[in-house]
Amino acid sequence: MAILVTGGTGYIGSHTCVELQNAGYDVVVLDNLANSSEKSLERVKAITGKDIKFYKGDIRDRKILKEIFENEKIDSCIHFAGLKAVGESVEKPWEYYDNNITGTLTLVDEMRKHGVKNIIFSSSATVYGDPAEIPITEECPKGQCTNPYGWTKSMLEQILSDMQKADNEWNVVILRYFNPIGAHKSGTMGENPNGIPNNLMPYITQVAVGKREELGVFGDDYDTPDGTGVRDYIHVVDLADGHVKALKKIEEKAGLCIYNLGTGTGYSVLDIVKNFEEANDLKIPYSIKPRRAGDIATCYADPSKAKRELGWEAKFGIKEMCADSWRWQKNNPNGYDD
Ligand code: NAD
Ligand code: UFG
Repeated sequence: MAILVTGGTGYIGSHTCVELQNAGYDVVVLDNLANSSEKSLERVKAITGKDIKFYKGDIRDRKILKEIFENEKIDSCIHFAGLKAVGESVEKPWEYYDNNITGTLTLVDEMRKHGVKNIIFSSSATVYGDPAEIPITEECPKGQCTNPYGWTKSMLEQILSDMQKADNEWNVVILRYFNPIGAHKSGTMGENPNGIPNNLMPYITQVAVGKREELGVFGDDYDTPDGTGVRDYIHVVDLADGHVKALKKIEEKAGLCIYNLGTGTGYSVLDIVKNFEEANDLKIPYSIKPRRAGDIATCYADPSKAKRELGWEAKFGIKEMCADSWRWQKNNPNGYDD
């Protein structure tokens, strides 16, 4: 039996393919390459020595979904495919709702028509909005999202939960990621953003490699120890491993489960700059800028439920995250583009 990985050529998806293959699973990837390169799968294969079946196509396309479910023996789906740029989602809400919501509705409809009722869904800490409690447990009420991207995650959690309640043959594991950074130890795979990076770590690595002049730190007047925003950064390989553990849960008939995937430790923007500099013996010039709209002061997880129920916890610390992010960027200044 194989695992269908939608969005499998992307940042988290490609790292998850490595961990799935290392754990002995066969992997089939569906991706339209809207935000990724097929080359990531070459790198996966070079690491694991195993082949991956790749379908280039869209999760909104029933024809390709039918083809996959008819030709491959799919047991479960890990559903990463989606658009994820917060700012762009404010500019293009229809495109985000169509891609993420219509896409997921189409995918799960074809899944059930073909008797595949196991799904792991990529959600986000963004569904907590400005969180009512810190550290954030899964019991923390979902909050008001500040952008359409966040709403797609919040709404899709609701849709998948309602489907599972109506038909208990479904096993739905919702994983709420905190802030994934880092890269595979080999330095051959990593995050490959288009254009100017929105997120902190890819911006820092692009400053380090000389593509950007300095980092703008968005606000130093938050109610945090040094005034800059605090987040729960998690190594992407730990995150990938969380999906393997979630699959084991599905094999035990999970029903509906929701887990935070984070480390439980918060680091400020300036902590990250300092750790990156120390881990890599580099200097990152930065200046303080105004706050970014929609940002919150502090967000970190209570990850104890995932430890208790999945036997999963993050293994990598902040220095490894910083060293691995830099190894990837240094070896591949243009990402997967030659
Ligand atoms: P990514 O952009 O690298 O990967 C997403 C992949 O989905 C890309 O390869 C893209 O080409 C593909 N895709 C998009 N729309 C598609 C469609 N309609 N049909 C087929 N393929 C499509 O992003 P990522 O960082 O790897 O994120 C993976 C998932 O995790 C996303 O759902 C994202 O929203 C979620 N997530 C990411 C973060 C983060 O900070 N990276 C945090 C929380 C949640
Ligand atoms: N930051 C800067 N300068 C930058 C980029 C970011 O100071 O150039 C700061 C932000 O203000 C924030 C912190 O660095 O305090 C982290 O920002 P990111 O953009 O890297 O991450 P966010 O926490 O804003 O959001 C990310 C993803 C969301 C996801 C969320 C929760 O972009 O999609 O994590 O997991 F929902």
